[in-house]
Amino acid sequence: MRLAKAERGMLEGEYGECAAKAMEILVKLGEAYNAARMVKISSTHIADLVYETIGDSGIAFIEDLANKGAKVRVFTTTNVTGIDRRRLKEFEIYGADYITKESRILQALKRIGCANTCSCTPYYFSNLPRFNEHVAWSESSTVPFINSVLGARSNREGCLSALMAALTGRTPLYGYHLRENRLGKTLVKIRKHPKATHEYGILGYYIGQMVVDKVPVFSGLSRKIYTEDLVELGSGLGVSSVIGMYHIPGVTPETKTEQHMFRNEKPEETIEIEERDLRETCRKLCTGSGKIDIVALGCPHYSLQQLERASRLLEGKKVHEDVRLWIQTCEPVYAAAAHAGYVNVVSKAGGLVTVDTCASALGPLLRRSHGKLTIATDSAKQAFYLGPGRGWHNVLLGSMEDCLKAAAKGSWEE
Ligand code: F3S
Repeated sequence: MRLAKAERGMLEGEYGECAAKAMEILVKLGEAYNAARMVKISSTHIADLVYETIGDSGIAFIEDLANKGAKVRVFTTTNVTGIDRRRLKEFEIYGADYITKESRILQALKRIGCANTCSCTPYYFSNLPRFNEHVAWSESSTVPFINSVLGARSNREGCLSALMAALTGRTPLYGYHLRENRLGKTLVKIRKHPKATHEYGILGYYIGQMVVDKVPVFSGLSRKIYTEDLVELGSGLGVSSVIGMYHIPGVTPETKTEQHMFRNEKPEETIEIEERDLRETCRKLCTGSGKIDIVALGCPHYSLQQLERASRLLEGKKVHEDVRLWIQTCEPVYAAAAHAGYVNVVSKAGGLVTVDTCASALGPLLRRSHGKLTIATDSAKQAFYLGPGRGWHNVLLGSMEDCLKAAAKGSWEE
């Protein structure tokens, strides 16, 4: 791999021990993917740095980096953690030891220079890469969004490669950083336009299973699609495939027409989607029925607009006494929603607007403390993680309206 002078210096230790190790790892990664060189990046987003995933050895690794003086070289946001920092006392499931471990991870990341945003939607408030900007992000829903909607360039990094990229400000130039790998391979013809946001998640999940690693180009989707629908589409796609990008002509910045994204050649395959495909996919994701224990909305973390809608639907309603309603978001959206009065409406109804975490991150903890629960959600990704994917809980999947109705009633309407 060709290295620029500064990169070679980094590798040889001129920028300290941690940058040298990080560059060594990135060079190995680049060689594995035949990257010709490194590319400078402008930001990173690091996912999966939660205790349930990295364990004690992961904590020791990050603390060691912090003790050795490692520092990020680009703006770095972090994904959800395992605790809601606003409500440590309200979540009795945490326990003191668990809180300490999650806090140690956050402390070490802060010392390294990460902005501990603890959210999977950092583009809603701070980390917003531009068209053609090279970045190194991890988290399966963020990467499709920034590649496909913002037109930035990122591979689907793991937490280690994203962290190493943060410490060097570089990533190997391969995959979605190169235009030829961003071109469409599969044409997806939509026969019936999804009506609600959760249906975009189901569509993404279904297509991900079919295309596996071939970049899809959607035809038949309206250009008036909401940002939240696109977030949901990418999150479904990301959970059932290794794909980090899709195209919607007229929406994806580099995609003027379908033909344009196939380089005027024929797609490798064409898939036609009927309404029944989505219904069937939703049915397969639902493993629960009847009485529900938790309603968890906001996977990926809700935007202010979604919170506004949820609060309108909850106005004057009461959540059933046996149900816990969690609306998951990030701290800045929470603050704005509190000013706008939405948080108050949710609390008055008996629900909780949570920050920093999500039901999927808490899934194993909930299983250990409460056994197998029935959780309703409006996200295909969350349904998959909690239900059929990991088998922690029974799940039900529907629209925001379906979920809030179920929260008030205490059970799911078939
Ligand atoms: Fe975000 Fe958790 Fe869903 S990290 S994308 S809310 S599984």
